[in-house]
Amino acid sequence: MKNLGILLSGRGSNFEAIARNIQAGTIPARIAVVISNKEDAAGLSRANEMGLKSLFLPSKGKDRETYDREVVASLKEYQVDLVCLAGFMRVLSPYFVRAFPGRILNIHPALLPAFPGLDAQKQALDYGVQFTGCTVHVVDEGVDTGPIIRQAVVPIEAGDTVESLSARILTEEHRIYSEAIRLMLSGRVRIEGRRATFEP
Ligand code: GRF
Repeated sequence: MKNLGILLSGRGSNFEAIARNIQAGTIPARIAVVISNKEDAAGLSRANEMGLKSLFLPSKGKDRETYDREVVASLKEYQVDLVCLAGFMRVLSPYFVRAFPGRILNIHPALLPAFPGLDAQKQALDYGVQFTGCTVHVVDEGVDTGPIIRQAVVPIEAGDTVESLSARILTEEHRIYSEAIRLMLSGRVRIEGRRATFEP
């Protein structure tokens, strides 16, 4: 059984969707630890309620690598095989990325490489695209740049607001994040350069 480590900073709905799929038996893994850099993150309380190992590791006042060394040490302590960023509002240092090469996933609420960074749903609306969506990618040393594992397209509708669009994207996020985790754990993913291919 593989061990997942979840990193979050807020609501934690992606984390909950992953936890539900594990309970339902559709992801062959266990959540070994949930770590938040925010003490009041709703996702952290949920993890607690679910009886999962949950840790608040404060980042305030620490430089990026010092903090990341603490997080990596915890992930190693809990023997994490795959790190899942689920609304973790920090950019990882090269130290972190190199500690888990090809074994960190992130979910982004846009069709990368369009609209990286913050407020991706607002960026898509402001730009006037007709389709946006979400992307699960392997984390490399850039921001929202690593090889893509799964994407889903979400059409923008007349009258959409950031809230209505975000809600429709979120439904797809919950679906594709678990699919991507399943794929990664299956050992069928081959990554060459930027391209991920999947063995049958
Ligand atoms: C999601 O929109 C995700 O794509 C982005 O941050 C948000 C986290 O939401 N990276 P939640 O905390 O999983 O509910």
